[in-house]
Amino acid sequence: MEVSSLTKMLIMLVLVLASFTTLSLGQDNWCGKQGTRVGFYKATCPKVEHIVRKTVIGYAKNDPTVAPGLLNMFFHDCFVNGCDASILLDGPSTELTAPPNSHLRHIYKVIGIAKLMLERSCRGVVSCADILALAARDSVVLTGGRSWKVPLGRRDGLVSRASDTANLPSFTDSITVQIKKFADKGLNTQDLVTLVGGHTIGTTGCASVNYRLYNFNNTNQPDPDINQAFLPQLRALCPNGGDGLRRVALDTGSNDSFDNSYYENLKNERGVLESDAMLWKDQRTHKFVKVFLGTGEKPRLRFNKEFGRAMVKMGNIEVKTGSHGEIRKLCGRTNSELH
Ligand code: HEM
Repeated sequence: MEVSSLTKMLIMLVLVLASFTTLSLGQDNWCGKQGTRVGFYKATCPKVEHIVRKTVIGYAKNDPTVAPGLLNMFFHDCFVNGCDASILLDGPSTELTAPPNSHLRHIYKVIGIAKLMLERSCRGVVSCADILALAARDSVVLTGGRSWKVPLGRRDGLVSRASDTANLPSFTDSITVQIKKFADKGLNTQDLVTLVGGHTIGTTGCASVNYRLYNFNNTNQPDPDINQAFLPQLRALCPNGGDGLRRVALDTGSNDSFDNSYYENLKNERGVLESDAMLWKDQRTHKFVKVFLGTGEKPRLRFNKEFGRAMVKMGNIEVKTGSHGEIRKLCGRTNSELH
């Protein structure tokens, strides 16, 4: 045998052995420390993305609250004990019963149905946490945002407690607190400004806004940081003494469309939540808003592109892989509850 053919054979042998070693190491080692990877179900459930997308489209086309709800749900899942679908577990005092998630309860069924379809195609393979990660991405795309590849391989958590939602970021949090809560999850200030850009779609209950409109900090005056022309608009949407349940767009004029206008609104003092308005006021976050508007000192960043990047980062928060967690049979129940 010629020397070059022998060398080729040796290289082939090394490559084949290397791939066997990788396979036997299991999912933890496919993508370094994060443990998720694009194409995780390529061999075991190749239709997963198609099935999730079809389900999300089916629900979202009849109900405008579905896309923002799924995006918001993924954030609330990842920030409470990691992206492990703990938000989907059913029970008397689970995360979903807690006040920050009260507007998301009807969203559960979208993931539940996608899971049922997936169980028919590839039983016991796809985690509810991964379905939620895909559904959040699909929601962004459906409302006009740019797509990104979602690394998969999360396993589902076993625990869900309403009390754990207490540490979610709140609309009254100062920028210092917002930065700290994101940093605690491995996300920096740029990630914060990018991810809160998710408020380019969806709505908030007037209960989170009223206090800014009529008697801010016991002054009997509105929040001075609300644009004077915008104030009557907001007051009409959220009347004084109203029940707080009415809903108002987070990105006035463009809340069905995933675009840059949320940052324009912040610049024009038309941020609806106090926590959003603060992003423009505080130098630490202001500079990133300007970068998205193309008026910053640093080169312009495209929000749509950056959002996908930051979502991948958020989607890796405290992910369970390997022998941690499980692949639930039903998204609302842990497997042990089913026996
Ligand atoms: C400092 C961080 C954040 C705070 C304080 C915050 C606060 C809020 C509040 C108060 C609401 C309205 C809830 C209601 O009344 O029903 C809301 C809605 C929403 N949030 Fe956030 N949020 C933050 C970060 C994020 C992030 C990182 C995302 C996504 C990546 C996100 C996506 C959404 C969406 C899509 C909605 C609309 C939900 C709907 O229409 O059902 N938020 N947020």
